[in-house]
Amino acid sequence: MAGLSLVQHIILEQRRAPEASGEFTLLLNDIVSACKAIAHEVNRGGLAGNLGIAGSENVQGEVQKKLDIITNDIFIRSLEWTGHLAAMASEENDEIIPIPAHYPRGKYLICFDPLDGSSNIDINLSVGTIFSVLRAPDGIAEPSEADFLQPGTRQVCAGFCVYGPTTLMVLTTGNGVNGFTLDRDVGEFILTHPDMRIPEDTAEFAVNMSNRRFWEEPVRRYVDECMLGLDGGREKNFNMRWVASMVAEVYRILVRGGIFMYPYDTKSPGKGGKLRLMYEANPMSFIVEQAGGASSTGRERILDIRPEHVHQRVPVILGSKNEVDRVVSYHGQHRA
Ligand code: AHG
Ligand code: MN
Ligand code: MN
Repeated sequence: MAGLSLVQHIILEQRRAPEASGEFTLLLNDIVSACKAIAHEVNRGGLAGNLGIAGSENVQGEVQKKLDIITNDIFIRSLEWTGHLAAMASEENDEIIPIPAHYPRGKYLICFDPLDGSSNIDINLSVGTIFSVLRAPDGIAEPSEADFLQPGTRQVCAGFCVYGPTTLMVLTTGNGVNGFTLDRDVGEFILTHPDMRIPEDTAEFAVNMSNRRFWEEPVRRYVDECMLGLDGGREKNFNMRWVASMVAEVYRILVRGGIFMYPYDTKSPGKGGKLRLMYEANPMSFIVEQAGGASSTGRERILDIRPEHVHQRVPVILGSKNEVDRVVSYHGQHRA
């Protein structure tokens, strides 16, 4: 199939914006190269000695897998030298990652989760990479953490890669959502899923049920109603999925609808949720909204949150619009 490649697709988008310099297209090309290299390492798995834990913890206090570190290094090394970024922020690095002094700087910032769903690595289930591109504030030579703290509405681009039975990249630059499948024979991501749209209604929910006792009342009410289905006042019965890999859950929702929740819980008080705003919740929310879905903490639109820290966590409720709206309305009723 001689389809349009991801970079060709971005070049066509760039032509529609006459003021564009082409720098963004080049940055995206670097991201594509990084994800292809990561796909290769994930795919090699145990053959390359890539499985298992690394014996260290990241800033979040999470045990790092070997592949968390390998993929983080690939992402940083692919992007730091090409001159399109002013700084980077990664799930695996406590501090902002500066561009080494001997390389040129560009006008963009990137936040990324190099390996999402890493608990799935050793059991051969889907994992992925998530990224969010922001503009560096004008006139800032050495961006600091404060320069990253822009609301999700300011994202220039968001995307994720899923390393599953096929390797797929899903991307938005604010003109809808497109999905590209890696054709390993030619080494290109090819447009296979143009203009992805999330159905407004769904009968499928995704949540880690083992946390039920730690949730707030509105989420418990919603999930309990889904469980009861026709016997509990809903107009249909629901099905449930939990992959424990946000990239796989969001991809499923883009293909056939659904609602995904990692809500506020009291398991780790003070953390505000499990998922990280700047490199998980924001990019996924941008993609979901661009595909016609909705994304909220239950109390506010995720893309409107003013970030306080690069590693900040937030509750996440996203997917098919009518179900997300229902959960948000339960939060409103509970407050009243
Ligand atoms: P990461 O591997 O980058 O730390 O992220 C994992 C996240 C997310 O992808 C998934 O939805 C969630 O954690 C799974 O959490 P549980 O193990 O608590 O179900
Ligand atoms: Mn993650
Ligand atoms: Mn991760």
